[in-house]
Amino acid sequence: MMNPQIYISADETTFHLTNGEFSYILHCLPDGHLMHLWSGKAVRPEADYTCFHEVFPRPMTSCPDADSWYSREHTAQECGTFGSSDFRTPAIEITHPDGSTLSDFQLTSWNILDGKPALPGLPAVYCEDSSEAKTLECILTDQKNSLEMVLSYTIFRDHNVIARNTRLINHGDAPVYADTVQSLCLDLPDSDYVWMQFSGAWGRERHLRNRTLEQGIQSVGSRRGHSSHNHNPVVILRREHTDEVQGEALGIALVYSGNFLIQAEVDTYDKTRILAGIHPDGFRWKLEPGEQFQSPEAVMAWTDQGLNRLSQTFHGLFGRRLARGCWRDRPRPILNNNWEATMFDFDEESLVKIAGKAKECGVELFVLDDGWFGARRNDKAGLGDWVANPELLPNGIAGLSKRIRGLGMEMGLWFEPEMVNKDSNLYRAHPDWILEVPGRTGCHGRNQFVLDFSRKEVVDAVYDMMCHVLDDADLSYIKWDMNRSITDCWSHALPADRQKETAHRYILGVYDLYERLIQRYPQILFESCASGGGRFDPGMLYYAPQAWCSDDSDAVERLSIQYGTSYAYPLSSIGAHVSEVPNQQVYRNVPLHTRANVACFGTHGYELDLNSLAPEELEQVREQIRFMKDNRRLLQFGTFYRLSSPFEGNVTAWMVVSEDQTEAIVGWYRTLSHVNQPTSRIRLQGLHPDRQYTVMTEGRHPYRTHAPWGDELMHMGLITSDGLSGQVETRDKYYGDFDSRLYLLRAVTPAA
Ligand code: DGJ
Repeated sequence: MMNPQIYISADETTFHLTNGEFSYILHCLPDGHLMHLWSGKAVRPEADYTCFHEVFPRPMTSCPDADSWYSREHTAQECGTFGSSDFRTPAIEITHPDGSTLSDFQLTSWNILDGKPALPGLPAVYCEDSSEAKTLECILTDQKNSLEMVLSYTIFRDHNVIARNTRLINHGDAPVYADTVQSLCLDLPDSDYVWMQFSGAWGRERHLRNRTLEQGIQSVGSRRGHSSHNHNPVVILRREHTDEVQGEALGIALVYSGNFLIQAEVDTYDKTRILAGIHPDGFRWKLEPGEQFQSPEAVMAWTDQGLNRLSQTFHGLFGRRLARGCWRDRPRPILNNNWEATMFDFDEESLVKIAGKAKECGVELFVLDDGWFGARRNDKAGLGDWVANPELLPNGIAGLSKRIRGLGMEMGLWFEPEMVNKDSNLYRAHPDWILEVPGRTGCHGRNQFVLDFSRKEVVDAVYDMMCHVLDDADLSYIKWDMNRSITDCWSHALPADRQKETAHRYILGVYDLYERLIQRYPQILFESCASGGGRFDPGMLYYAPQAWCSDDSDAVERLSIQYGTSYAYPLSSIGAHVSEVPNQQVYRNVPLHTRANVACFGTHGYELDLNSLAPEELEQVREQIRFMKDNRRLLQFGTFYRLSSPFEGNVTAWMVVSEDQTEAIVGWYRTLSHVNQPTSRIRLQGLHPDRQYTVMTEGRHPYRTHAPWGDELMHMGLITSDGLSGQVETRDKYYGDFDSRLYLLRAVTPAA
């Protein structure tokens, strides 16, 4: 790719952002409105594309310009507004001082910046060097009300994406209310797309759902106060025949962790408007004179080379230019978390025993989960009191961490900073610190209430409690949990006409606490969590480079969850652990090797007491950990390809390939065993066609006596049926249901 460029036409009305592979073109119309001309494969910068603004008479059309048939309804807008000839859902809606909601934003100036400015208080994609990106800021003004809107567009050298955000500034002398401020409005010239969303519920997050775009509105969103298990703030639009290896697709992602909406509206002329931003329902932001409102960032990614390529674009961007800190590029520690092993039933001695066995097996980090603080012996009390319970931990967290370190391991700790039980000292001291509507009965969720993180003093108090623990003990990891959706979203600290700001202010408070903690403790690895994957979103990756993917730790269930997650999120971000059998969520008995073969395509850890395993199982665990340590850089940071989907059949397969194409690992998983089954092969991806590869299974058995060529493996495939019905001796043991294998590929000949 070439360095990113922004070309401006001689008459200064057309702006063409390109990196040589991808172009995004916008154009200023004579009435000052910004229209969208193109987003997709790069086209030449010197040409004039304004002919794509087609204007002709249509029945029932409304026209703002007396002398022409120009109508905003039939024009692709960069930021659609409602009420003056555009009848689609608006990207921006303001209630002005006179009560009207009609806005007229006209381009008044623009700036071109090297690199990309940060968004204060919000997560955003960044550059390490200003040559990586160029940003166009279009400044539009609604003259009547002295309101300014800045639309920002960043194009990158190394990623086929445009990052966008919207900022409003009130230069008038009266307050206005922003009722809708979308981060992205993209009007596409047709609707021939399949909409792919990543939806589910607690325990089955980010399952892929496909539907064809139809006239009318289709959307995903959340009004639960967090991005949610139900819908993820990522949508992909693919052409009908696009698959993993070829075809056009675009991905829309909102870099935000609160209420969101991603919507496609297909009009009766089969044009599609995509909107992405904070959910407008329940939102209203007051702008006093001189005040600003900054939207979150939205990212649009594009490819014409299939869904794997689109995902790799997201992985590169989110893994390397959204995640931050010293852990961004480091292989992640193999951890043992005590939650499924003990729940609330532990003390210092039992924890040290679990950690001791983990250490013997090679685990590097012991994580103490929920239950270590205040009066927390179950989920009814203690939340909010971040002081170790002396009955369980007589030497405090500091004492425990010393013992864990003495074993030669790092220690990590669980917090749920945003929540409180009413049975807690924090609540008794500050009953008005929760979100609640006076005079109404508030809802609990898991017996807990939501602290009002829109208030600085609340965030300050939680920060102080956490720092006290972190300053005292030697910790290298924090699991930040969040176990309920937000109801009763009303703040004791805001006036009536600002109450609809509470949900966004809350998320800004969450980001603020994260930011303060990561600045103060830059060495600590943060893992975000919200009852599993209830806040697994791009926004969180800016603060916590990994996220607990789901509370469903069953390996077969995880195939779908991790496969769906991989469409946008890099493997280094996917928290995945081996847990006990029968599994605690679905009571399934998956063999230990398959549990590990799934978890290693993620951060890899153990969610059980290893003391409960038989000696031969412990030997397997030791081998799994040795394998992970040898291969985690490749597994977490290699180029990832999906090969066979759990949403479509009995076999799931995926692989990672090193950047230099000399190493690869294929994960192959068969859910149910069938008698006398057909032979099977799977076509690999991303290998060097002209190199030969040795192929070993994870038990170190050679796969074939000859080393297959890269093109052979990619076009003819890897035979996956041998050994399963006893034809070829490639493993020690045969399994029935829930079998899996890893194939390890190493290049043997020098590249041609
Ligand atoms: C939900 C998390 O997802 C679990 O891993 C565990 O930390 C529990 N909360 C603890 O309450």
